[in-house]
This record gives sequence, C-alpha cells and structure tokens, in this order.
Amino acid sequence: MSQQEFWNSKFSKADFFYGLNPNEFLASNIELLNNHKKLLCLGEGEGRNAIFFAKNGFNVSAIDASNLGLEKLQNRAKEENLDIKTICMDLNFWKADEKYDVIVASYLHMYKDEREELFKKIEESLNINGYFIAEFFSKKQLSFNSGGPKDLDLLYTIEDFLNHFTLCKKNISEEIVTLDEGIGHQGEACVIRVVIQKI
Ligand SMILES: C[S@@+](CC[C@H](N)C(=O)[O-])C[C@H]1O[C@@H](n2cnc3c(N)ncnc32)[C@H](O)[C@@H]1O
Repeated sequence: MSQQEFWNSKFSKADFFYGLNPNEFLASNIELLNNHKKLLCLGEGEGRNAIFFAKNGFNVSAIDASNLGLEKLQNRAKEENLDIKTICMDLNFWKADEKYDVIVASYLHMYKDEREELFKKIEESLNINGYFIAEFFSKKQLSFNSGGPKDLDLLYTIEDFLNHFTLCKKNISEEIVTLDEGIGHQGEACVIRVVIQKI
C-alpha cells in the first residue's frame, strides 16, 4: 500500500483525525519566530499546523502525500479565508529548490533509510537563522498505546538528529508527554522534540 493510500484511508475515518488544534509543541515555539515569515509544513496531513501558522501571519506552504488530507486543509483554509499553498507529493521526491525561514513537522513517520536525504534537504532549504521545529515519536513509543507506528524503522532516537544537521545549533530532547490530538493521538506518549537553527 502506498503512503497516499494508507493516509487517505486514515483521514477518511474522522472529520479531522488529529483534531483541529495545532501540535502543542510546534505552537509553543511561535515566539521564537519573530521576523521568520516563510514557513513550510512537511507531512502536514489535514493541515492543523498550517492553519494555525497562517492565522498567525506566516506565509505557509504544506507538502503531504495524501491528496485527501490536503483537500481537507484547503477546505478549512477557504472557510477561514486563508491562503495556503499545498503540494501533494512523496517527500522522497521533494526537490527542495526553495528557501524557508521555518520548516515544521509533527509526526512525520519517514523510514530510517529515507531520513539522511530528507534531513539534508531540510538543512539546505533553511535560510540562515531559519528554524526546523518538529515532534516525532521516539522508539520508546512502542511501549505506549497512544498512537503512532508499531514499526521501529519509523520511530526516532535523539541520535538521529545529533548525527545530522551539522551546520545548525540543536536542541533535542526526549520527553514523556500527554497527547490530546483527535482520535489519532490520545494519552501518554514518548516523543522526540527538535528545535534546530541554521547558523
Ligand atoms: C501521523 S500523520 C501527521 C499529520 C500532521 N503532521 C499532523 O500532525 O496532524 C503523518 C503524515 O505524514 C505524511 N507522510 C508520511 N510519509 C510521507 C512521505 N513519504 N511523503 C509525504 N508525506 C508523508 C502522511 O501522508 C500523513 O499526512
């Protein structure tokens, strides 16, 4: 099954599978982002982060493999009178030929062998002083039942980030948090939180 088929089927199960509110960690970093206006959301699904940042004055683009997720994003953007650019594609084929002030991602489950290339493209796509802010499920999430893949190859460790992003300042932590995000993520979870700044 392709990523598109898998995620389209999830996103057809609920109005908004991960709810309407942005991921709490991404939203909590908004104060860092004064004067950072051009923002890209990776693996943005139904668009809860894109809508939040667009409402807060950012110029937002979003990439996702799920056409259904992005249709829901666009319907919501229309209702809220927001202009958001969406690109439906597999991130393994992302050309990364534009620069951004901020790149965000919440729960982008890329396979381990796809990450080196993706992380390189993220680093290259950031303007100097630009931020990559993201939350991922840790490998330790396997012992929790609050959501996320049950495949170790789709889960992350702190070292995944420490070994990449060599041109950047990095603040990476592993935390136990309580998620309340739609029907998709509910309860105690182990996540990796990432704030990376290109210098
Ligand atoms: C767990 S969902 C999270 C969606 C959204 N970030 C959120 O937190 O509400 C994972 C998203 O990543 C997207 N995704 C996974 N692998 C992808 C890939 N290789 N290329 C593009 N999108 C991908 C899926 O389509 C899905 O929308």
